Amino acid sequence: MKTNSLALLAILLSFVLFTKPSLQKSNSPNPRLYNAFLALQAWKHAITNDPKSFTSNWHGYDVCNYTGIYCAPAPDNPHLTTVAGIDLNHATISGSLPEELGLLTDLALFHINSNRFKGNLPYSFRNLRLLYELDISNNLFSGEFPPVLLCLPSIKYLDIRFNDFQGKVPPELFDLKLDALFINNNKFRSALPKNIGNSTVSVLVLANNNLQGCLATGIGKMAKTLNEIILMNSGLGGCLPDEIGLLTKLTVFDVSFNSLVGSLPKSMGNMKSLEQLNVAHNKLSGQIPESICKLPRLENFTYSDNYFCGEPGSCLKLDDKDDSRNCIPYRPKQRPAEECRDFYSRPVDCSAFGCLPSSSPPPPSPHHYYNP
Ligand SMILES: *[C@@H]1O[C@H](CO)[C@@H](O)[C@H](O)[C@H]1NC(C)=O
Ligand SMILES: *[C@@H]1O[C@H](CO)[C@@H](O)[C@H](O)[C@H]1NC(C)=O
Ligand SMILES: *[C@@H]1O[C@H](CO)[C@@H](O)[C@H](O)[C@H]1NC(C)=O
Repeated sequence: MKTNSLALLAILLSFVLFTKPSLQKSNSPNPRLYNAFLALQAWKHAITNDPKSFTSNWHGYDVCNYTGIYCAPAPDNPHLTTVAGIDLNHATISGSLPEELGLLTDLALFHINSNRFKGNLPYSFRNLRLLYELDISNNLFSGEFPPVLLCLPSIKYLDIRFNDFQGKVPPELFDLKLDALFINNNKFRSALPKNIGNSTVSVLVLANNNLQGCLATGIGKMAKTLNEIILMNSGLGGCLPDEIGLLTKLTVFDVSFNSLVGSLPKSMGNMKSLEQLNVAHNKLSGQIPESICKLPRLENFTYSDNYFCGEPGSCLKLDDKDDSRNCIPYRPKQRPAEECRDFYSRPVDCSAFGCLPSSSPPPPSPHHYYNP
């Protein structure tokens, strides 16, 4: 993903170098650059603090020479120079995004991470038909998920993490043809949409929100593309569906710090690309399936702070594993026996938040396994 964007930036930069001479020939900007001038001047007015002086040279019609602004030939007319990218990452600028930014109709990259912009995205962003990468992470944006992000036809990389967005995660988000989606560390509070499996992303990070949902069946539909999924501290409940075993390209699976119950599906032994597996801090129980610990690429398996009652020898052989605070007999740092007996005296209920029961069998009765 990052290499993609770097490559794109390099291409843009080389265009900038090529187009400079022709730009300098004329003093009056072409209509696209004139619109960009209007947009960027409006933006400069909406900036209340620019401690690193990123925008101090934002004056005059030569917008291609402004710090953080990248020009390139317009895709529909190679003789016209236009603004194709904005990169104001780490500028610590305070302010907001004005409606006039919708005049930047050829924008492909918009990167403003690590600033102090607030408000929401202007609805005029719907005019950015070529916008491919949007990174507004680590700002002070708030309000509902920006609806305008659902109607950008070219968007592939969407990063709005570390803001104060709240409310529902719109299901339409998972019907977009995205490569990567980061919405972690916001205040979203809604059930994980049932169509999550429609997503085409390779990287999906929803962590540190309060989604109050389950990993819906349908997630197996992401098998062709999904490479990393991070659902840490996302308010998930219910049982892990057998279907996750279909995710054979997944290298990172992190569902730690949730309220998942039931056992780890044996089908997880099919996740042959898995390198990092973190299921710590849930209410999972039963035996760890041997097939998981025998996964060929598994480097780090963290399953501490659950109620597992048995682990095969192959798990103990893993270089990086954490099995502490479970109910595993004869292992150090386990839960007190009465806590384990209490837990195992109640049946497993997969139906939190209306989640469907897992098709894997419930963990066996405690007396069978748990008998310290
Ligand atoms: C671009 O900016 C540099 C310094 O920031 C300046 O020296 C140069 O004259 C500017 N070019 C144009 C065409 O304005
Ligand atoms: C998206 O998911 C929903 C619910 O699972 C399904 O009904 C719909 O057909 C899916 N859409 C696409 C385009 O796959
Ligand atoms: C293994 O994963 C856990 C949980 O993500 C992490 O805390 C630990 O640092 C990792 N170990 C290594 C060696 O990467």
